[in-house]
Amino acid sequence: MKITRSKTSRLDQVDFENLGFGAGLSDHVFRAEYKDGQWDDGVIEPYGHLRQGLGLHALHYGQAVFEGQKAYKQADGGIAVFRPERNFDRINLSGERMCIPTIPKDLFMNGLMELIRVDRDWVPSGKNQALYLRPFTFASAEWVIAKASDQYTFGIVTCPVGELYSGAIKVKIEQEFTRATQGGVGFAKAAGNYGGSFLATRKAIEEGFSQVLWTDHKEHKFIEEAGTMNVALIINDVLVTPKLSDTILAGITRDSILTLVREWGIEVQERDITVDELLDSVKSGDLQEAFGMGTAAVISPINGFGYQGTVIDCPFKEDGMATRIKTALSDIRYGRVEDSHGWMHRI
Ligand SMILES: Cc1ncc(COP(=O)(O)O)c(C=O)c1O
Repeated sequence: MKITRSKTSRLDQVDFENLGFGAGLSDHVFRAEYKDGQWDDGVIEPYGHLRQGLGLHALHYGQAVFEGQKAYKQADGGIAVFRPERNFDRINLSGERMCIPTIPKDLFMNGLMELIRVDRDWVPSGKNQALYLRPFTFASAEWVIAKASDQYTFGIVTCPVGELYSGAIKVKIEQEFTRATQGGVGFAKAAGNYGGSFLATRKAIEEGFSQVLWTDHKEHKFIEEAGTMNVALIINDVLVTPKLSDTILAGITRDSILTLVREWGIEVQERDITVDELLDSVKSGDLQEAFGMGTAAVISPINGFGYQGTVIDCPFKEDGMATRIKTALSDIRYGRVEDSHGWMHRI
């Protein structure tokens, strides 16, 4: 793989004491091109501009998918990525739905690992900090024909991040807009899913919420997932979470948490959850905790639900399940305990 190093670094422009989320991209990128039915070997090069013109296919038709994952500074000073094979599988699952050619495993893994090696100084070491990794593929033909592209670019950019939310959040149970429909692309990490959700999210934020809690497209009766995280409820000591379907993104954090919690002997139910059940369980006190689960959000306790113009507060226990899970996951991710699941891929 050809590696061209940046002549100057922007590392000194990063305020590691006050890392936000998603700005301040690292010095280098990985980039591979698909043409004539084949992927090339890819290159690492300084962060820079696209070479394409305004006919760029992805801009017109949204044929683009992406991933979100993290590399963590280990207790022994090394660096490790959390479950990267899962993101590899998912980008290809998303790609299949969006008519994007499969990315070979070597290309994905070698590109990712080599890029982190090159920008290893960008991996932050503060509490709850990580290097966010953003692999993505977009249609890169230049034409305005509404059909699948015959050229693609697979890129990876990275940036050091802190926590997305620092405390408990309130979410709005969405009753107007829809994120995903049966037979659609909701299970894929397709770029347009996010663009299509910004209006509802903006409205929710204007109303004082941090996120939307999406409901099904037919009746807005069943809860599905939040903007960038899956959701779980603890009801009478059972972890209850919406079962996966083609309208929900199968979160890698969700999968990891369900694995841990089951190992702890806690009952897990993956099933339909109605908005009524959720609200009734808050009112009756059966709901002990609610939280979101995702790479960016990690574990985000939910302390209120917005519904039809009112806010229904729900308990957040500092010493509850969300905190226990967060500690256990963090200990694995930062290499503070033995990685008995083989989740960490060391660089
Ligand atoms: C819509 C949506 N749901 C759920 C998740 C959580 O997925 P993961 O745990 O793999 O980050 C994300 C995160 O990217 C997301 O964007």
